[in-house]
Amino acid sequence: MAALSSTHCRSYSPLQSSSFGPSSSSSSSSSSSNLGHFQRVSVSSVPKRFLAAKVYSLQSQTKSVARMQDGAVASTITPIENETPFKKLKDGLLSVPSPDECKDAVGFGINENDSTVSITVVGASGDLAKKKIFPALFALYYEDCLPKHFTVCGYARSKMTDAELRNMVSKTLTCRIDKRENCSEKMEQFLRRCFYHSGQYDSQENFAELDKKLKEHEGGRVSNRLFYLSIPPNIFIDAVRCASSSASSGNGWTRVIVEKPFGRDSESSAALTKGLKQYLKEDQIFRIDHYLGKELVENLSVLRFSNLIFEPLWSRQYIRNVQLIFSEDFGTEGRGGYFDNYGIIRDIMQNHLLQILALFAMETPVSLDAEDIRNEKVKVLRSMRPLQLENVVTGQYKSHTKGGVTYPAYTDDKTVPKDSLTPTFAAAALFIDNARWDGVPFLMKAGKALHTKRAEIRVQFRHVPGNLYNRNFGTDLDRATNELVIRVQPDEAIYLKINNKVPGLGMRLDRSNLNLHYAARYSKEIPDAYERLLLDAVEGERRLFIRSDELDAAWSLFTPLLKELEEKKIIPEYYPHGSRGPVGAHYLAARYKVRWGDVGVDQ
Ligand code: NDP
Ligand code: BG6
Repeated sequence: MAALSSTHCRSYSPLQSSSFGPSSSSSSSSSSSNLGHFQRVSVSSVPKRFLAAKVYSLQSQTKSVARMQDGAVASTITPIENETPFKKLKDGLLSVPSPDECKDAVGFGINENDSTVSITVVGASGDLAKKKIFPALFALYYEDCLPKHFTVCGYARSKMTDAELRNMVSKTLTCRIDKRENCSEKMEQFLRRCFYHSGQYDSQENFAELDKKLKEHEGGRVSNRLFYLSIPPNIFIDAVRCASSSASSGNGWTRVIVEKPFGRDSESSAALTKGLKQYLKEDQIFRIDHYLGKELVENLSVLRFSNLIFEPLWSRQYIRNVQLIFSEDFGTEGRGGYFDNYGIIRDIMQNHLLQILALFAMETPVSLDAEDIRNEKVKVLRSMRPLQLENVVTGQYKSHTKGGVTYPAYTDDKTVPKDSLTPTFAAAALFIDNARWDGVPFLMKAGKALHTKRAEIRVQFRHVPGNLYNRNFGTDLDRATNELVIRVQPDEAIYLKINNKVPGLGMRLDRSNLNLHYAARYSKEIPDAYERLLLDAVEGERRLFIRSDELDAAWSLFTPLLKELEEKKIIPEYYPHGSRGPVGAHYLAARYKVRWGDVGVDQ
């Protein structure tokens, strides 16, 4: 991780890179744009957190504006109606001290009074805001990861008072199992920093009112503003235009987190990028793919680049195939309207699984700097063959009755047309035409309404040449090959399947797992992906966000296939709700002499 921290939550070891070479110029050059005025200085090897503090301190000398306590406007908090979950929580259930990582104020503390961060959740009344964004912000607050002066503002068309927003938000806030100390107090403190403004997404006037409100909370400090677009994509540009003209920061940075979907093919994605870039510079746009914020996806590079035993094996020479598997044990309930326009290939494969693939397969980056990593990811994507119809299997779940319960078909959803051919399952074989991966199939499989919820990466190694023990394995040599499994969720784990001798006087071989099981190894609860990504956005760390050229490359791989599927009206293979998905996925894998690793007896 590059040393880009500008909050006091993270500390980085001295071994970690802090270099900002020419490739990171986009994130470090001095610039101003339509969206506010940016204080940036050319950086070489100075960690950003120090720079940020220095810039802010200079600015603060020119200001003499009344400041308010904690970034909050001096207002009384209307009591929250109804009993909220935090009231029910008992304090001190588990009293664990905060980890050092969130107490380390190195390089920032002395200037904290001079600047403030305002986080505006655009679409605050929506599902994602309630489910993920507000809880992640609270978790960051609890961990002491947000700057001293911050304000959270919800923005949406729904009419709500501050108290109503707080009430809504409080219902989804939870403390981690290992973080319950003073939980209800912390929740109250956090909620006191949350405000609401009702407005239209295309109204400059409404955003100007928001600006006024934010200024009151910012109390004359250098204002840094983060907008989280948690709204349907068709209104992204309107919201950015209005935020840009009427609510961007006048003296700090302005950043915008954009949620997926980033278009539905190459053309619409390019149009979206073009639209956003009318008002934002690339380094202000934080395209979020929450899978990149998952702990085990983060760990992928650590596993590979910091363990000598893996990196030499990471190529066609030793790896037979790689499998990227995503499954959910529920359907598209509640999101059918959105899903039908996208389908599983756009919803999961083109972004989440492809991003993991790029991280998995990239060459060693020059450094851990965001641009160096993203450069390598782009190279992998550009070395890939666009998907071919014959290398893809699609499916759609149908109704199924089990144990007296009937599970609905995809098309039973009222927001889905009865004759919809949208795939809820897909399996695909992808290839990277470069020296490292030539001929190695990368198999992806993603589906809704399957028998289990799981996301994992499976790396199947080649058979041992001239294996002395071949006859002990019988005919099933595949079972005897090493397999590395990175279980992203649930129950995070990294395990390596190896062969060993069963203890005793005979020579019977067994298959065992060398297992790093996170729950057993670490008592700390794993943070939600949104926490990491929100913190990164606040800190200006772009490594886990998608750059526009990555996005273009990703769409180039999938767009021809998606068009062909739609033009030819390819009928998906129907599979029962709750099953393992279409049989076609097995035929596809078999064509490349692969067996899906998640179907065997010893997964
Ligand atoms: P919602 O459909 O809940 O929309 C969010 C808010 O936007 C609504 O509360 C509503 O607020 C406003 N809104 C909804 N439809 C319209 C419309 N047609 N015109 C104007 N405003 C509208 O979305 P989610 O919260 O589910 O998702 C937000 C974004 O995040 C989307 O881009 C989605 O694709 C993405 N996403 C969502 C995930 C999820 O799990 N929900 C997962 C990954 C990505 P109001 O009426 O108050 O203005
Ligand atoms: C979202 C998809 O991006 O990821 C959803 O739009 C999917 O369809 C979700 O359910 C899965 O995320 P997670 O973190 O629950 O695995």
